[in-house]
Amino acid sequence: MANKQFDVVVIGGGPAGYVAAIRAAQLGFNTACIEAESYADPKGEVRLGGTCLNVGCIPSKALLHSSELFDTAHHAFLMHGIRLDNLSVDVGVMMRRKENIVTQLTQGIRALFKKNKVTLLAGHGSFAGREDEHWQINVRAKDGSHETVAAEHVIIATGSRPRHLESVPVDNVTICDNVGALSFTAAPPRLGVIGAGVIGLELGSVWKRLGSDVTLLEALPDFLAVADPAVAKEAWKTFTQKQGLKIHLGVKILEVKQGVQGITIEYENGAGVQRLECDKLIVSVGRVPNTDGLNAESVGLAFDAHGRIAVDEHCHTNLENVWAVGDVVRGPMLAHKGMEEGVMVAERIAGQAGHVNYQTIPWVIYTHPEIAWVGKTETQLKNEGIEYRVGQIPFLVSGRALGQGDTTGFVKMLADANSDRILGVHVIGANASELISEAVTAMEFGAAAEDVARICHAHPTLSEVMHEAALAVDKRALHF
Ligand code: FAD
Ligand code: NAI
Repeated sequence: MANKQFDVVVIGGGPAGYVAAIRAAQLGFNTACIEAESYADPKGEVRLGGTCLNVGCIPSKALLHSSELFDTAHHAFLMHGIRLDNLSVDVGVMMRRKENIVTQLTQGIRALFKKNKVTLLAGHGSFAGREDEHWQINVRAKDGSHETVAAEHVIIATGSRPRHLESVPVDNVTICDNVGALSFTAAPPRLGVIGAGVIGLELGSVWKRLGSDVTLLEALPDFLAVADPAVAKEAWKTFTQKQGLKIHLGVKILEVKQGVQGITIEYENGAGVQRLECDKLIVSVGRVPNTDGLNAESVGLAFDAHGRIAVDEHCHTNLENVWAVGDVVRGPMLAHKGMEEGVMVAERIAGQAGHVNYQTIPWVIYTHPEIAWVGKTETQLKNEGIEYRVGQIPFLVSGRALGQGDTTGFVKMLADANSDRILGVHVIGANASELISEAVTAMEFGAAAEDVARICHAHPTLSEVMHEAALAVDKRALHF
């Protein structure tokens, strides 16, 4: 028998779950959020925010910014006439800054729960059946105590965890996934990375800037295959030739051994069997949905072929009043995608028409230059047989980019050849993460390239390159 009864119970306090809980409470539902105590703050209290705030987006972006400042001071200040002698970095201070940001943000979510009257239940949530049209959810705390709560609606937001390779044991000290790789106490002299995807490139960049010799081993024969080919080509050139990241493609990992001298990775590529020696190794080969211990089978919850919770376009599962959002369901594993799903589900529970436009979810890789895109790549358009026009403008033409001393990259706009509707926008360059917002808004409103071409952009800004790319779709760029 349940001790407490709620209208909505959210299982998981990451970005998808905490946002769902806040929106449900805003809509007047008596709401609880169960968080499994995966992360604890210095006072030992359960930390909300999930992967994103604790060991993902936020700490990685803090380190990316710190390391970029160091790199800029090291390599770019001189061109501005700024001379610094005896530049050094204190990784301990950098890590403490990162930790403080995480603490500030995770405590902020606790405050938001209080403000919105969301009940936080610390413990592992699992299904315990259904009684009187209410789902029974067991909450098991770390100290062994447990209680059962009843919910009319359940939103599963249990997220994901790093995928590990069978023969590569992660201890998060020497061989690390994202958790350990965000907490090195010093830059390892030689850093190996298995997987040149988003985490590999972002964290590889952090430690490269702080002095590590970084080698990435990627299974696929193509670099950044998810991105537009022109962007991937520019990124490859910049990362390998200008920044010195060593990236080997088409690699098959054979064996990873740890010894007193460090780690030896034996791998195979087109040139035969190779060996890489390193002091630390990051394994970043994707993430898997977190569904362990939900007791989902006992209530008949359906999964898809990838082990994710199966949902429809509105994140409803096969069970009445059970929803699932974020990394635990199909779609890109991105915090903002999960948050939008959380809002959609809370609004649909309230009988409103919440929806997510999966065609306009932006992607950002926070390397330098940053990489950002929305919509289709040129490869996808070709494969789908869609006729398109391209406008591509380099940042080199921008007075602002020149003034900032950072002219790498371009904006590329793809528009339908017949209707001129924007189908995809791809940016590689400084501030790409912010610039892409204009393209997302334009696409969300069904804009044509001509619409963006006729919008007045402030001068001198990097956004003028977006403007020029839109003009270039119609072959009438003014500054290129
Ligand atoms: P999670 O954040 O994983 O949260 C799930 C929560 O549920 C966790 O707190 C967990 O403890 C809890 N939980 C699990 N099972 C139970 C249970 N049975 N009972 C109770 N609680 C449970 N995305 C971006 O958009 N931008 C970025 O810059 C970015 N950077 C990233 C960098 C790194 C290094 C990593 C690893 C990821 C990054 N991501 C980024 C991805 C982003 O972190 C995830 O997409 C996002 O956190 C998913 O949110 P979620 O709420 O679905 O799951
Ligand atoms: P990923 O999918 O981005 O990259 C994994 C890479 O590892 C792929 O290129 C894959 O081909 C390669 N790989 C797989 N198995 C391999 C093997 N055995 N040997 C060598 N290479 C292998 O996954 P990643 O980097 O682990 O990140 C997980 C997810 O987290 C991302 O897909 C993204 O959704 C999210 N994330 C988002 C960020 C952002 O938005 N900026 C930043 C970091 C993570």
